[in-house]
Amino acid sequence: MSKETKNSNLASAKKNKNDEFYTQLSDIEKELIHYKNHFENKIVFCNCDDPKESNFFQYFALNFTHLGLKKLITTHYEKDSQSYKLVVEHDINKDGVINLDDAIRTDLKGDGDFRSQESIEILKEADIIVTNPPFSLFREYIAQLMEHDKKFLVIGNINAISYKETFKYIKENKLWLGYKTVRFFNQPDGSLFETARTFWFTNLDHKKRHENLLLYKTYKGNESDYPKYDNYDAIEVSKTKDIPMDYEGAMGVPITFLDKFNPEQFEIIGMAEDNGKGFSGGIWDGDNPHCVIKGQNKFKRLFIQHKKAKK
Ligand SMILES: C[S@@+](CC[C@H](N)C(=O)[O-])C[C@H]1O[C@@H](n2cnc3c(N)ncnc32)[C@H](O)[C@@H]1O
Repeated sequence: MSKETKNSNLASAKKNKNDEFYTQLSDIEKELIHYKNHFENKIVFCNCDDPKESNFFQYFALNFTHLGLKKLITTHYEKDSQSYKLVVEHDINKDGVINLDDAIRTDLKGDGDFRSQESIEILKEADIIVTNPPFSLFREYIAQLMEHDKKFLVIGNINAISYKETFKYIKENKLWLGYKTVRFFNQPDGSLFETARTFWFTNLDHKKRHENLLLYKTYKGNESDYPKYDNYDAIEVSKTKDIPMDYEGAMGVPITFLDKFNPEQFEIIGMAEDNGKGFSGGIWDGDNPHCVIKGQNKFKRLFIQHKKAKK
């Protein structure tokens, strides 16, 4: 499927508020394997998860003992109807393991909206929130997690990086990307839904985030490969792998650089002003918010600099 079609899939999902697509168990397993040390003795809450459909519930219930969880709570959302939660905590059936068979179902008072007071009370009790929330409510979703100072690992689409509500946390190193990208989701009719790159967003530390990006190019001697923008005090680096190791000023890089971002190696200065006024951290000079080189608009850019350049 072409990139345009994938993007338009997501755009129409957003437009129709069609948030019904489900994460595959294999994607959850491939990501969660990198965070095992965070889960011991923790209460996990999946707050956008129909347990019948949700592989998040399956994953945590099946791996309850392996991860050393204290409790798993999953709430199901049933718009404008009474809904329910499932809790796994004790070895109810006394078979020696805590797993799916030990889930207890209890009615909620309301519809299980993650913004409802009863969901917020569970959120307060929980240590780590893990789910794929509705993309159409992603801003509110992240704001709520931050307000309650929760640890989380959630799925969001690439556009969420440049929402002003999320980017500020990325810049402050309070939110970063996980390990993997996700491309295919299950749909209620059993078919697969393909999206453009979708990421894990988290504030759980992981190893990849501390790995240096190996750099092999220099600015010195290759200046013509790195033109300066007309309206930003920065050079254009069109591919993350070509970031020069010796340039001390601001560099404009593709947004997908974040997938390789190590905060000990680089610092995020901002984003082009077309993502929001004041986004570029003071390096913009002009009227056109896009990144412009010799009068030509360039793609969306993130501005970074080498960490050592910090004064
Ligand atoms: C993208 S789907 C993902 C479902 C599941 N987390 C998974 O990954 O398989 C988002 C889910 O959020 C649910 N949802 C939509 N609005 C919600 C709300 N306000 N509160 C809680 N859940 C909501 C939808 O019903 C949908 O099942």
